[in-house]
Amino acid sequence: MKEKVLSLLKETQGFISGQELCEGLKVSRTAVWKTIQQLKTEGYQIEAVRNRGYRLVSSPDIMAEAEVSSKLNTRVMGHPCLFYRETDSTNDRVKQLAEEGMPHGTLICADMQSGGKGRRGRPWISPLGESVYMSLLLRPHIGTARASMLTLVMGLAAAKACSETLCSVMEHAPRVEIKWPNDLVVEGKKLAGILTELSAEVGYIYYVVIGIGINVNTKTFEGELAETAVSMCQVAGTGFFRAELAARCINYFEYYYDIFAKTEDLSGLKEEYESFLVNKGRQVCVLEPNHEFCGTARGINSYGQLLVEREDGEITAVYAGEVSVRGVYGYV
Ligand code: BTN
Repeated sequence: MKEKVLSLLKETQGFISGQELCEGLKVSRTAVWKTIQQLKTEGYQIEAVRNRGYRLVSSPDIMAEAEVSSKLNTRVMGHPCLFYRETDSTNDRVKQLAEEGMPHGTLICADMQSGGKGRRGRPWISPLGESVYMSLLLRPHIGTARASMLTLVMGLAAAKACSETLCSVMEHAPRVEIKWPNDLVVEGKKLAGILTELSAEVGYIYYVVIGIGINVNTKTFEGELAETAVSMCQVAGTGFFRAELAARCINYFEYYYDIFAKTEDLSGLKEEYESFLVNKGRQVCVLEPNHEFCGTARGINSYGQLLVEREDGEITAVYAGEVSVRGVYGYV
C-alpha cells in the first residue's frame, strides 16, 4: 500500500486528489490519509491542499522497502525485498532467511550494519544512512564450481548501475571499473566490494548469498581507507539516492543473470565484463594459498577465470574462489 501511494505521488506532476488515490488503490480515504502520515514520518515532504489533494515535495534518501521496491522492474530479483534499519550483516540475515525457506530472489537491504563483513574475515564498515548494504538470496540449479561466476555477474550489474548513476550527474564522469573478481574501482580507489557465500554439499548448491556494499554518500573515510576507498559522492561532488542505486543494480543483475542462466556460464557476458575490467593488460600478482606468481592479465574466459600470461607466454586461468589479485604497482 505504502509503495503504491508513493509511486502514484511520484508519477504525478503536481497534485493528485485523495479521490484519485482511493480509486486507483481501491481503498478508503482514511487508509490513504494514514499512509500519507506514515510516509511523512519517514521523512517524505508531502503537501496536502484542500480540494487539490497531495503533492510530493521531496523524498529523503532512505533505504526503506517501498523506496527500493517501487523502483524495481524485475520478475524475480528483489521479490520479496526486506529492509532492516539496523542489522549485523545483510549476508547473515539472508542466510537465516534461506534456512527458513525464503525464495530465490529475496533481497535484504539495511540502513546500517553493526557487523558488516568483507572478504577474508575483514570488517566492512557500514555507518547509518551512508551507503548501500544489501544481499541477494539465490537458489541456482548449477554445479558448485560455477557459483563464483555469480560474483562476476553482480560485479557487472553494479558497475553498470554505478556508471550510469555517475553519468546522470556528470558530463565527464570517470570510468567505473571492475577489479577482478570482487571490487569496483574508480580512479584506482575502491568504490564497492562483493562478498559471495555458499551453502552447498559436494556438487549441490543449497543457496548462494551475494552481498554488495557500495560507498555512496560517505564524505570522508578514516584511517587507511582514506587512501584506498572512494564514494560516489566524493567522485561526483553531490549526494545520491541510495534506494535508486540499489534498485538499478538489482534491475541490471536480473538482466545479466538471465543471460548467465541460459548457458550457465559467462559466454554471453564476457565481452561486456571485459570492457569494465581494470586488470586487462596490466601486471598482476596472483596470491594463491600456497604460492604466488605474476604476469599480465589478458581478460577472462567463459568460466569467469582471469587469464594471466606469464613471462614465458604460458597462460594460466585463475579461479576466483581461491585467490587474491594485486596490482604489481599497488591496489589495482
Ligand atoms: C569486500 O570487498 O571485502 C566485500 C565487501 C562486502 C560488503 C557487503 S555489505 C552487504 C553485505 N553484508 C555484509 O556483511 N557484507 C556484504
